[in-house]
Amino acid sequence: MADDPEQRRSLWLADAPLTDYPALEQRHDVDVAVIGGGIVGLTAALLLQRAGLRTAVLEARRIGTGVTGASTGKVTWLHGAKYSVIERTFDGVAARRYAEANEHGLARLAAFAEELATAGHDCGFERQPAYTYTRDPGRVQSLRDEAEAASRAGLAAAFTEDGPLPFPVAGAVRADDQAQIDPYRYVVGLADAAVRAGAQVFERSRVHDVVSEQGRQVCRLHGRVELRAERVIVATLLPFLDRGGFFAKTSPTRSYGIAVALDGPAPSGMHISIDEPIRSTRPRPGGHGLVVIGEQHKVGQDPDTRRRDEALEAWTREHFPVRSVDYRWSTQDYRSADDLPYVGRLPRGPEQILVATGFGKWGLGTGTAAAMMLEDLIRGRENPWLPLFDATRVDLMASARKMIEENANVAKRFVGDRLRSLKAPPIDELAPGEGGIVRDRDERVAAYRDESGNVFACSPICTHMGCYLQWNAAEKSWDCPCHGSRFDYRGEVLQGPAVEDLERKRQP
Ligand code: FES
Repeated sequence: MADDPEQRRSLWLADAPLTDYPALEQRHDVDVAVIGGGIVGLTAALLLQRAGLRTAVLEARRIGTGVTGASTGKVTWLHGAKYSVIERTFDGVAARRYAEANEHGLARLAAFAEELATAGHDCGFERQPAYTYTRDPGRVQSLRDEAEAASRAGLAAAFTEDGPLPFPVAGAVRADDQAQIDPYRYVVGLADAAVRAGAQVFERSRVHDVVSEQGRQVCRLHGRVELRAERVIVATLLPFLDRGGFFAKTSPTRSYGIAVALDGPAPSGMHISIDEPIRSTRPRPGGHGLVVIGEQHKVGQDPDTRRRDEALEAWTREHFPVRSVDYRWSTQDYRSADDLPYVGRLPRGPEQILVATGFGKWGLGTGTAAAMMLEDLIRGRENPWLPLFDATRVDLMASARKMIEENANVAKRFVGDRLRSLKAPPIDELAPGEGGIVRDRDERVAAYRDESGNVFACSPICTHMGCYLQWNAAEKSWDCPCHGSRFDYRGEVLQGPAVEDLERKRQP
């Protein structure tokens, strides 16, 4: 993929051909505008177009190249130890609703994958068991509890002390008949199916705002280009519309991924530990390699992201016969304050604007379920899962403490990083390949010097709400410690909620 050679790519994206949908260049009118071309947006677009609604997708970059194309490709209803958490935070009914949504999400995705394969989009759908394991005998009881909570929620989960991993585990929850896919090829197939059904897909079409005019919703791009719709779905990982306040009630994390070749077959099954450091693994397509994801940390709050790569590789080499490390990448996700995604109407916005966010790393299955909920909402149908996921909920008990902690952390970064930037070194001290907040004459700038000596300097202030950015050495990007926006070293938005690029100060 030649879209941006400076970016690290997952194994799904590295060698895949780019899609080439046109940019939106003139005004259009549709029934439903979907902002964001990932799993939620494209699933919803296909469902809605097939339901007879004229649908258009607006993707800021290329479809599937954000978080969807950087995921492990696991599709499962076994989410770590979530059912016991939901039972504790809410009740058994909530756990059952969560289970049903995820079972249906998995079934919907499996049916689409089969259909897409017959249309020439083989996305490597493969059934695999999923495991949540611990190596700590002191945590075995929590997994016994999780197996029971999942069973009470109606799921066929079982506790086991055996497993296919090449190291001993103290206990695990096992779920059969889950699945793994190539997530990028899957969403490329969804987009193609949506277009064949009559939908429109636009790429390189970043929406900067959505406003209401005479009962219609107007998605505004740069210039005078706009898309008008009855309904708008914002499916952009974190909604960029601040009206919903999701930036303040979710927490952004960055994780690291590698795909390795092994000397010998990979152990079967998709595994995730509950022990720190958390590791998530699955077999690569073909079975002689592994995908490993882990090392999560809060976005923009690790001064040396390169050590994350090293730690992930060291762990993998310690436990598996690694022949080569073939791909390295990073990914991002948001977790809600009460650990349940937000799906449905935008709080404090017109009821025609809908959102889905906060999937906490389980976005393929739950994101598919979210798209089904949004379809029901738009078509005026009852949906039994929506009340649990309701995006307008005020989750006072569950979220109050977390929100206070998150906001305190944001405030600390806001002040602390400004103070630190006062002591910035001069720009000339940047070595080739290095980036940082430096002084350029009397001004503080976010600067990067490439290997050829070219200097790229931008404003160090996030265009979302003004926090100071942090250099991410592993990815050569500027990351915002407050709500997770990211910019490439030239200042272009990589990830929202920011929608405006950084102000350029100096470019070669
Ligand atoms: Fe909100 Fe940067 S993402 S201030």
